[in-house]
Amino acid sequence: MTAHYSTLTQFIRARERDHPGATGDFTSLLNAIGLAGKRISRDVNRAGIADIIGVTGDTNVQQEKVQKLDIIANTELIQALAPTGLVCAIGSEEEDEPVEVEQGVNGRYVVLFDPLDGSSNIDVCAPIGTIFSIYRRKTTPGSGTNSLEDMLQPGRDLAAAGYIIYGSSTMLIYTTGSGVHSFTLDPAIGEFILTNSDLKCDGGAKVYSTNEGNSPRWDDADIAWVAEMKAEGYSARYIGSLVGDFHRNLLRGGIFTYPGDKKSPNGKLRLLYECAPMAFIMEQAGGKASDGTQRILDIQPTALHQRTPLYIGGANEVERIERLRSMSFTQ
Ligand code: AHG
Ligand code: MN
Ligand code: MN
Repeated sequence: MTAHYSTLTQFIRARERDHPGATGDFTSLLNAIGLAGKRISRDVNRAGIADIIGVTGDTNVQQEKVQKLDIIANTELIQALAPTGLVCAIGSEEEDEPVEVEQGVNGRYVVLFDPLDGSSNIDVCAPIGTIFSIYRRKTTPGSGTNSLEDMLQPGRDLAAAGYIIYGSSTMLIYTTGSGVHSFTLDPAIGEFILTNSDLKCDGGAKVYSTNEGNSPRWDDADIAWVAEMKAEGYSARYIGSLVGDFHRNLLRGGIFTYPGDKKSPNGKLRLLYECAPMAFIMEQAGGKASDGTQRILDIQPTALHQRTPLYIGGANEVERIERLRSMSFTQ
């Protein structure tokens, strides 16, 4: 029997054919993100030899100015998306303000991204990633670009979300709300090849991922939670790259937390660029995502760069911390 394989493009087009009336715009949009992902993957892999590691303003051995890789990744995504005319608003973790998208005045989609997540890991060869979110436009096409009404939508209204992980291989994972699909980049042919069409977070591994160094500033519920994890034989695994930690937990099982603490009551991670897209993927894989009290996907954003505490992973583990938090609130 001949083994079947499917590229990312073939897979998205086949699914689009199941939706009568689809215009092909969505396929083009995901393809554009896939292309940017391949280019960033190349940049990440060549970082050491290409002298592109380093802070903006550094010069390389040829005395040329070098850019930080997260700025390069940001540029790759904007260059792939803005000229398509499909996108009426672009928001990036690396940009204080929405990105200029004049060509997208009639675009029907909004794209938000964290161009390079876990970027402190670049210099040490640990996994990093790109996180992306796609929303449908709410304002009337033609009425302008970068409307906050379009950009500040709750995660439950996501049309699609995904991430590209640059690790021992490069993988693209995405969902449109009917399961989670994963693709692995074959660098020899430059194509993402389908590796799993319905990923589930049911690996069963007893793993917790959190920066326990912050625990002196945590509140009682988070401290009690970690103590319970240890007492029940959980292992700690923390890379310090949300994409890396999330991907391992998605495949193997486990929970990732970045709680609020006394210094940063809303934690560190951004709702729109990091938490909502990962929450959509995790729920589609059968897990849960919470800010400790409510579902991440139900939070109505009020600002582009807003942060939120995050508890994300297996349903049982997330429910446990929600229970502990509700107990400590009522004491
Ligand atoms: P980014 O590189 O996009 O700024 O994100 C880094 C984030 C996230 O990837 C990771 O989970 C977290 O920061 C780690 O934070 P700590 O170093 O405080 O543990
Ligand atoms: Mn990030
Ligand atoms: Mn980032």
